[in-house]
Amino acid sequence: MLDLFADETPWQEPLAEGAVILRRFARASAAALIKQMDEVVQLSPFRQLVTPGGYTMSVAMSNCGARGWTTNPQGYQYSAKDPLTGKPWPAMPQIFRELSDAASVAAGYPGFAPDACLINRYVPGAKLSLHQDKDEPNLRQPIVSVSLGLPAVFQFGGLKRSDPLVRIMLEHGDVVVWGGPSRLCYHGILPLKPGYHPATGEARYNLTFRSTRKSD
Ligand code: SIN
Ligand code: FE2
Repeated sequence: MLDLFADETPWQEPLAEGAVILRRFARASAAALIKQMDEVVQLSPFRQLVTPGGYTMSVAMSNCGARGWTTNPQGYQYSAKDPLTGKPWPAMPQIFRELSDAASVAAGYPGFAPDACLINRYVPGAKLSLHQDKDEPNLRQPIVSVSLGLPAVFQFGGLKRSDPLVRIMLEHGDVVVWGGPSRLCYHGILPLKPGYHPATGEARYNLTFRSTRKSD
């Protein structure tokens, strides 16, 4: 077993029932994650998707794994091929899988086997409006979200859009896992503040691991 996470001293902060922040959990493996991410996006480049409502998202996205999250004029969907290249999405790098496995176990969701990883790139001003992750058929599987580079303010609420929100700063190497009673909680990212991070320059990246299978 690769000992990538051994020299980390992460700590856990409960976020909501079924949701936890694993602070600095991915810090030891961050450089390797970023290197692999760079390889993925050479094959399936970052692009700003257009929502069904005609809005161009400020966050640029790509994917790796068997399926990737995309938009089309009818809605949101997971597809086996990258619509930009017409080819399958790049394979999920082994280090991505190992990090996701370790994080899901640490958060109390053993057995999570993601087949999709959405990669988000935020530049200053980019944001992700409040939304639920609800395009996955099996909501018993959690979401594992890895923050890399510049810090950003994450908003996490309840099952209704109008529920109160907590605001948390997510920093390089922080991992958030939400599932169970929190699986459909609204969440989003406030506009990224300009800055420079040694690992990512003037950007923030986020990897979100999902299972898109009907059952596991
Ligand atoms: C997401 O909601 O899919 C990503 C959240 C983040 O960038 O931290
Ligand atoms: Fe999300």
